[in-house]
Amino acid sequence: MNHNENLINREHKIIEVRNLKKYYPSGSKTLKALDGVSFDICEGEIIGIVGESGCGKSTLGRSILRLFPVTEGEIIFDGTDISKMNRRQLKPYRKNMQMIFQNPYSSFNPKQRIGSALTEVGKVYGMTDQEIQKKLSQLLEYIRLPEDMLQRSPGELSGGQLQRLAIARALILNPAFIVADEPVSALDVSVQAQILNLITDLRKKLRMTMLFISHEMTVVEHICDQVAVMYLGKIVEMAPTKELFAHIRHPYTQALMSAIPKADPEEKKERIILEGDIPNAIDLPAGCSFASRCRYCTQECREKTPELTMTGSGHQVACHHPIE
Ligand SMILES: Nc1ncnc2c1ncn2[C@@H]1O[C@H](COP(=O)(O)OP(=O)(O)OP(=O)(O)O)[C@@H](O)[C@H]1O
Ligand SMILES: [Mg+2]
Repeated sequence: MNHNENLINREHKIIEVRNLKKYYPSGSKTLKALDGVSFDICEGEIIGIVGESGCGKSTLGRSILRLFPVTEGEIIFDGTDISKMNRRQLKPYRKNMQMIFQNPYSSFNPKQRIGSALTEVGKVYGMTDQEIQKKLSQLLEYIRLPEDMLQRSPGELSGGQLQRLAIARALILNPAFIVADEPVSALDVSVQAQILNLITDLRKKLRMTMLFISHEMTVVEHICDQVAVMYLGKIVEMAPTKELFAHIRHPYTQALMSAIPKADPEEKKERIILEGDIPNAIDLPAGCSFASRCRYCTQECREKTPELTMTGSGHQVACHHPIE
């Protein structure tokens, strides 16, 4: 069982994504950046999204936050469908949905002091000075940075310090839902672990509900309750984290995993090199989109698109020949 299960309220779904699609026109053709994605996130739960560059992770995160119009499907935020709302209708929801970005340097204005950048968020949403101060002191304690950091400008801080502050800024309004888009990818390896520990710590204190995006399996393993693996706009495998890592079923996830170097050099592991070309998301062939690179590919895979199917222990896989 997931050791964070007591932090999750399974009765309360914060996000329900149903058959979500985001298409971009590309000349006379269509780029299917998201092509029918469905999952739920319960209150207090952290869902991980992994996959190679360009598979649609950021598009998924930004679509759920409705940073742009979506092509098709539903996004249900705490019981309300926000997928077709316009700017004005979305306004009351903005406060409740925050984002943490990859690059902490570009998420702060270099000319603005940190303190002013953080208080500004509260002011925009009508918090009083007193409320903002109280929240800020609490958050600074949580992210373990002294008050005098607020006097500094972004250029006077390290990447790790800035990312802590970006996390604090996302939490000022007590959002019901947070998208963290590769929040450690731009940081030094030594700092990455600190930020991941901080998020783990904060989720316990604040019961955060989060979509956590990463291109690395090892990063999601330590922080997420469930992990969804994406390939060319679709989820190809999704399961509770322990279950997924104990029993990988999709050949693509297996290839992603085998790309991770083992800490112990004595332990021999076969590296699976992803062969074949990544099909273009514009001209997807019929059948399974991973077929051209898959070492288990058969005729059926080239002809018929595999559907994401529940296979037991909450494990879903979209493959005609899942690994046993
Ligand atoms: N505004 C846009 N207009 C056209 N195409 C876009 C746009 N945004 C994203 N795309 C395309 O959609 C696909 C998915 O992009 P996305 O940024 O979601 O990938 P990603 O998984 O986040 O990649 P990375 O790991 O590099 O951040 C890519 O093919 C990308 O080129
Ligand atoms: Mg991205």
